[in-house]
Amino acid sequence: MQTVKSLMKKLEQLGIDKQGTLLIHSSMKSLGEVEGGADTVLDAFSDYMKDGLLVLPTHTWSTINADNPLFHVGNSTCCVGILPELFRKRPGVVRSWHPTHSVAALGRDAEAFTKDDHLYDTPCARGSAWGKLLDRKATILLVGVDLKRNTFIHGVEEWVDIPGRMTDEHEMLYTVLPDGSQISVPSRRHCGLPWSEHFWKVDEVLVREGAMRKGKLGDAVVRVCDAAKTAEVITEMLKENPDLFSDNEPLHIPNCEAELVGVSHEAYLRNEARYKLQSELLVAEKQVADGERLLNHEQVIAKIREE
Ligand SMILES: CC(C)(COP(=O)(O)OP(=O)(O)OC[C@H]1O[C@@H](n2cnc3c(N)ncnc32)[C@H](O)[C@@H]1OP(=O)(O)O)[C@@H](O)C(=O)NCCC(=O)NCCS
Repeated sequence: MQTVKSLMKKLEQLGIDKQGTLLIHSSMKSLGEVEGGADTVLDAFSDYMKDGLLVLPTHTWSTINADNPLFHVGNSTCCVGILPELFRKRPGVVRSWHPTHSVAALGRDAEAFTKDDHLYDTPCARGSAWGKLLDRKATILLVGVDLKRNTFIHGVEEWVDIPGRMTDEHEMLYTVLPDGSQISVPSRRHCGLPWSEHFWKVDEVLVREGAMRKGKLGDAVVRVCDAAKTAEVITEMLKENPDLFSDNEPLHIPNCEAELVGVSHEAYLRNEARYKLQSELLVAEKQVADGERLLNHEQVIAKIREE
């Protein structure tokens, strides 16, 4: 059974900087039994980060849209779990004014951290709280959830300007401020495939590059991400391959696989090239056989090149 004390001890063992910025995505259930439930967990996070900045996402993208365009900073329920939902209502917590991708923050600089989100028309603009995580070299803690829930990676895709991730047109959304007044926040939305479902692909790479480590908090497997290093690694990968997250296939990393099978990188690449050619020949031969026209290997290769 976890307590405030045991959770705080564990956060310390995970090496989380008490004076830094910590953003947490969470599954309460993954923690196992906690004396006092969700409030105990929030007490532990808040107390641990009392000299720093604690941030929880309070997204409302699942409910705020063209048919239901009013986001109430004070009342709109978030769609990312019980911990953020309870956290945003706690004394001293400041919620940002973005209609779909707001955050709630407590502690040093909470006001400054949250004050700009509604000035942007995209979910994770570089000048929003999501980009400020990078400026502040924040830690992102994923409690019992994996990289698919790491909104920051949406941010990196946005900053690298990967095409096709957001609508071109704006939805007219409005934010009702804590004083009851209303502002309009025309917003572009994530669109297309559920890209974040593919973020798991960089799990191993981030660990290998020292951008992420794994540990336990209660019963939960947690991922501790260094926001700056995570952005650096993924930015490089996206520049090389803008389609990195466009499919759900595991990554093919020659260096890593060569190491695993114990051959040099060059030998591995030679073998890969040979393998690729053989597979192409097999496929082409089958197509040729199916088409009832037999070609020799040179003709088959010429045919592949033509295609
Ligand atoms: C969807 C998700 C929240 C589900 O996780 P979960 O552990 O099942 O749900 P929650 O974190 O909301 O915890 C709910 C549980 O907390 C417990 N709980 C403790 N105190 C509670 C309280 N005061 N009120 C409600 N539930 C409480 C209950 O066991 C409840 O489970 P139940 O509803 O089955 O009884 C999680 O998988 C996830 O994706 N989290 C990250 C979300 C995110 O940040 N996304 C960002 C990109 S969009």
